[in-house]
This record gives sequence, C-alpha cells and structure tokens, in this order.
Amino acid sequence: MGILAVSIDDLTSSEPGLRLSRSRIGTSPVFSHVWEDHAELNARLRQVVLDKMAVTPGLKKSNCGGWQSERDLQLWGDPAIDELLDRMRAMLRSVVRETVVDPEEELLDGWDIEAWANVNQLGDDVAAHVHGGGVNMWAAVYYVDCGQSPDAISSGFTHFLDMSGTPRPISRRAPETSGQTCAPAREAEDLRVEPLPGKMVVFPATLPHYVTAYQGNEKRITIALNLRHTGFVVTDFENHYSRRRTLWRNYRGPMLMMYEAKRVVRETLAAVVPVHRWPAGLRRRLLGGSN
Ligand SMILES: [Fe+2]
Repeated sequence: MGILAVSIDDLTSSEPGLRLSRSRIGTSPVFSHVWEDHAELNARLRQVVLDKMAVTPGLKKSNCGGWQSERDLQLWGDPAIDELLDRMRAMLRSVVRETVVDPEEELLDGWDIEAWANVNQLGDDVAAHVHGGGVNMWAAVYYVDCGQSPDAISSGFTHFLDMSGTPRPISRRAPETSGQTCAPAREAEDLRVEPLPGKMVVFPATLPHYVTAYQGNEKRITIALNLRHTGFVVTDFENHYSRRRTLWRNYRGPMLMMYEAKRVVRETLAAVVPVHRWPAGLRRRLLGGSN
C-alpha cells in the first residue's frame, strides 16, 4: 500500500535569523466533482427519494429535523440509484489513484457501498458527526437538490472541521470560506462546501462534519454514502488525553481558573525554593507529567 505524499515548504519569516520550513503530513483531503449531466439523473433520484419518504418514517440519527431513510438505498433497485452508484465507484477509483501510489486493481474496485437519503426542510440541520468505524474508509455526499437557486446558495452548507490540530485563536471567528469547489482549506479553518446539484464530495470517513440549517422553502435532498473496503486501514487509537480534552471542551471556565492558579503557585514557589529542591510529587503536579 502506498503513502500520502508529504510536501515541504520553505517559508519567509519576519523574525531575524529564523528560517522556517513547513512539512505537511496527512491533512484531511476532501475531493469533489460536479457531474454536469446531472439534470435527468437528479430528477429521477428526487422522485425516488420522495416516493420512499411518503411511505416510510425514516431514521433518527445525526439529523436535527428532516427525514433520513433507512441505510438501504443501494438496494432500492431503481436504475437512477444504480447510475449514481456507478458514478460513485468511478469517483472512488480516482480518489484511490490520488491517495495511493500505484494502487493494485483490488484497491480500485471491490468497494462495498451503503447509502441513504436525507431530506431537509425549513430549519432542519445535521449535527456534527463522523462516518468512521468498522470498514468505512471514505464517506461521500451527493447533492440531488439544494432547494434553492444554484446561483444564490445561502444555507444548508456542509462544513468539514479542521482536524489538523493547528491552534487557532478563540477570540477570532473563522473567516468564511466559499467557492464552487472544495479548495484546500487554509490551516485551522473549517472547509465549507456549497450544495450544488450534481456535486459529489468524497472525504475520509473519520472527518467530522455538519450541515448548517437549511432556510429555504423547498426540499433539500442529498444522498450520503459509506464506502467500505477491507483492503485499507485508518489510524485509530485510544489515548489518555481524551479525558482532558473532554474537560477542557465542556468546563473551559473552571479549567482555566485551575490552570491559572497552578501557574501562579508554580511561579511563586519557584521564586522562593529552587525547582530541583521540590519533592518529586510536587514537581510532577506543578510542572506536568501527572497527566
Ligand atoms: Fe455525514
């Protein structure tokens, strides 16, 4: 199996005597393609989805409002669904060629696809979620109907969260990213995708994303897909930092107070007693290493 390419950029620095270079490793790729000949296909898909919605209650998953079908769309047996799955497999082959050096045939084909439909109406959104787990490697969304004029998309955006770990200021709102395609996000910015009809977007199944509230009066229809293959694996591990992240995320105020108190005690004590004379337990507690 190949590896993702790593690029190294030499950067100019305003600090005298400092030459910074930047390597990239595995920042999340998001691929997109707009099928130009989507009109007839989407008209049929729209009808198939609305017919199914009329006779089944749907599931309650990450959708806040809206209707989500059972995860069996790939088995509905309609020619339009089969055409969509063919297009999905074609795009997957392209994605594999982009992310794997000299992929074998069995990596290009042999994908198992699980799919479902989503219909959002006024005020409906989708909470942040991932598709990772099991043998889900990539995930995808196909926009059937964005419910508004493609020339004036103003709601129902899909946002992918930046997972590079690059710190960003909490005091500054992320700049709006916009565009017809999924241009690579700049560091520490979420990526916003416009819901154009015929657009197919493929992303790592582990990449968190959400959908902003749809504010139109028509129906916003998408098809989501889990793309499974047993010949791939993704990095996944348990680690003991996850509890700290939960505390900082949910109790930021108290955690900040504790952090500041610890910093004051550490600096005050160090001014009176040299650090090397501190008992080992105290050093661990005040200097880190306890978690
Ligand atoms: Fe999703």
